[in-house]
Amino acid sequence: MSLKGKHIVLGITGSIAAYKAAILTRLFIKEGAEVQVVITPAGKEFITPVTLSALTGKPVVSEFFTANDGTWHSHVDLGLWADLMVVAPATASTLGKMANGIADNMLITTYLSMKAPVFIAPAMDLDMFAHPSTQRNISILKSYGNQIIEPASGELASHLIGKGRMEEPESIVKEVKAYFEKKKSLSGKRILITAGPTYERLDPVRFIGNYSTGKMGFALAEECACRGAEVILVAGPVALSIDHPQIHRIDVESADEMYHEATTVFPSVDVAILCAAVADYRPEIKSETKIKRKGDNLNLALVPNKDIAAELGRLKSEKQLLVGFALETDNEQENAKKKVEKKNLDYIVLNSLRNPGAGFRTDTNQVTIIDRNGNEDNFELKLKTALASDIIEQTLLKNK
Ligand code: CTP
Repeated sequence: MSLKGKHIVLGITGSIAAYKAAILTRLFIKEGAEVQVVITPAGKEFITPVTLSALTGKPVVSEFFTANDGTWHSHVDLGLWADLMVVAPATASTLGKMANGIADNMLITTYLSMKAPVFIAPAMDLDMFAHPSTQRNISILKSYGNQIIEPASGELASHLIGKGRMEEPESIVKEVKAYFEKKKSLSGKRILITAGPTYERLDPVRFIGNYSTGKMGFALAEECACRGAEVILVAGPVALSIDHPQIHRIDVESADEMYHEATTVFPSVDVAILCAAVADYRPEIKSETKIKRKGDNLNLALVPNKDIAAELGRLKSEKQLLVGFALETDNEQENAKKKVEKKNLDYIVLNSLRNPGAGFRTDTNQVTIIDRNGNEDNFELKLKTALASDIIEQTLLKNK
């Protein structure tokens, strides 16, 4: 895949590695991209705007205004124009400003206005890179969803040897191309995702529920949408928000409502990922008024809810893919395999409550993915957001 027609904003800052930015610009252009350079005042000390504008065919942007005619350069327009922003090289100072929103130059204002993803390739001396301030800024930038292109180890401009050398332009281009490749990996697919718990109402103030937060399902929805899919997210009661033009969210409360929405949507989708922790039972009687305390024991009669996964497994056509989840406390593998068969799933994502950091109420999870033939793939403990990508690759994209 080339970068034909892609709009790339290339931010260049004041590091000796700025000379490599000319090679990077050239490689982007060769791949068919349009490149707009935004350079900091310090960056211009290392590489001239003339070199860069000759390569891109566009004037380099550096100041908020052009001094002689008072033209204002709109960082907002650049933020809308770009398909991707790459900051290479990024100095320690720029990382700090980006992490903290210190918008005192055109590059940072452009970054803050950016609608597109941002890749950052740090370049600095090894001690500066290892410093807790730099590392903290990098963690902050990662937590905002920016992609850090880790610097390489080797001889630095100071002649010291260590980690801090900006990644080579060829590798940066490779990462950028992989990003665009991934971005369209699910384009044209319609995906149903159920997420969160269900609440089974007892009376106007009480319900039977569970500890599911919906984080795994929401991470999957976000990842599928970022890969180009259209997502229908049927969510139980959760405290999460999600904002993506390709995610259509339907909020439900009970298992019965979730069943209704999921079965209605299912015939129109290619894939269903059933991540919700659906209550297996609901109270037989919903009291219209608050149940009052009496001296005696209170016995609740519960009746079974419909099994959404099993019903979708029954309805499933040859072309549709069904991925279920299982949260187990014992006999994990055996129980999960039984569910694959019983519910006619193609894959099941198993997490065990015995593993610390896995399951409900955590940002992390550790899973094993089991297919219809019983083949297992184990994944290490990682953030649910990162795991979402693994799950998609190991299931939806496995046989592509
Ligand atoms: N599931 C569902 N509808 C239900 C119950 C479960 O769609 N009423 C789905 C879950 O979203 C999950 C899979 O089935 O993808 C397995 O859920 P789990 O609760 O582990 O399975 P159960 O069949 O309820 O088994 P048990 O509670 O006995 O372990």
